[in-house]
Amino acid sequence: MSKVLLTGGMGFIGSHTAVSLIENGYDVVIVDNLVNSEEDVVHRLEKFKNVTIPFYNGDCRDENLLDKIFNEHDIEIVIHFAGLKAVGESVSLPLEYYENNLNATISLLKSMLKNKVHKLVFSSSATVYDEDNPDERVEGYKLGCTNPYGWTKFMCEQIIRDTCHANSQLNAISLRYFNPVGAHPSGIIGENPKGVPNNLMPYIQQVATGVRDYLRVYGNDYDTVDGTGVRDYIHVCDLADAHVAASKYLQNNKGCLEINIGTGKGASVLEMVEAFEKANKIKIPYKIEARRPGDVAINYANANKAYKLLGWKATRTLEDMCKDAYNWQCNLQKKHN
Ligand code: NAD
Ligand code: UFG
Repeated sequence: MSKVLLTGGMGFIGSHTAVSLIENGYDVVIVDNLVNSEEDVVHRLEKFKNVTIPFYNGDCRDENLLDKIFNEHDIEIVIHFAGLKAVGESVSLPLEYYENNLNATISLLKSMLKNKVHKLVFSSSATVYDEDNPDERVEGYKLGCTNPYGWTKFMCEQIIRDTCHANSQLNAISLRYFNPVGAHPSGIIGENPKGVPNNLMPYIQQVATGVRDYLRVYGNDYDTVDGTGVRDYIHVCDLADAHVAASKYLQNNKGCLEINIGTGKGASVLEMVEAFEKANKIKIPYKIEARRPGDVAINYANANKAYKLLGWKATRTLEDMCKDAYNWQCNLQKKHN
């Protein structure tokens, strides 16, 4: 059985990917320093899938630790999720973001090459696209970022390309995620942001369960269907499956690629509110507020490359995303009460 190392595998996307990989016959090993996750996740995954998951509580910047993991396990593929990801925080803590995200990627690549591990999937982001592009982002479009977090993704992609260029045996795919939302339908894993959520869906989830009074809608004067911002929301289980597809691709092909992972369709903030209300038969109170600095009006994926090369496309609906997100949030609430 092929073994996959998930760096940052205890987090939101990594934990869902662990489930998809296990369901597709892969063994998984996780390394995570728990800076934004809890150790309990691995126990939940093990119980849910009835497997043992070797877990290393440590930092990806620690090359010796990575060497040790590659020594102890015959790893074929690495999926590199580990990173800090809050856009606003990165503006106030740029050095922490560059230090963590770049050094983790550099140490990982060095250790992979040393230990002859030659397949890498990297968590990149739609945030690497320059704002001055058509709304439907295509992989070849101009890149450029508006915050340090985005630049770390931009730079990591470049570091990976340069390392592949210098080491022909290395193969890599940077997956540019659009807006991952939802949770596993089992309600066992999901997103649990610390403090006040920055992102739309976790905020709606907290309004739905009474943690917050109402949603602040950031602007209704954009040139969109109803004036509110439009994004490409993708169910985290679809995103997890995309990692399985990328892993399979690397087992059969060579190269260094960047691929969008989205549904190819946009939804506005108010359409998301409506979908959530309808799916869960619950009211989401909201107030229109000023635009959030740095936001663009519309941004969604052209997802053709993912289908063409990986044979992957998103299958879950907005209703699935909203139902599963609410189910998870209710479970989380029960645990805390
Ligand atoms: P997350 O914070 O839930 O998961 C990241 C995990 O990495 C956490 O468990 C954290 O503890 C760990 N980590 C961070 N730095 C580490 C280090 N140096 N060593 C070891 N572990 C470390 O985030 P997520 O939403 O699951 O995102 C996963 C990846 O996908 C990140 O790289 C993120 O930037 C990227 N991404 C996320 C989104 C999104 O909207 N969630 C969108 C685009 C890209
Ligand atoms: N929004 C609100 N109220 C909120 C939160 C968000 O109205 O409380 C609106 C925003 O203005 C935007 C939309 O909901 O129009 C989506 O905002 P998110 O913060 O959920 O998502 P973003 O598209 O701004 O950013 C996300 C991730 C980034 C990633 C980017 C990739 O947070 O890390 O997607 O496209 F880079």
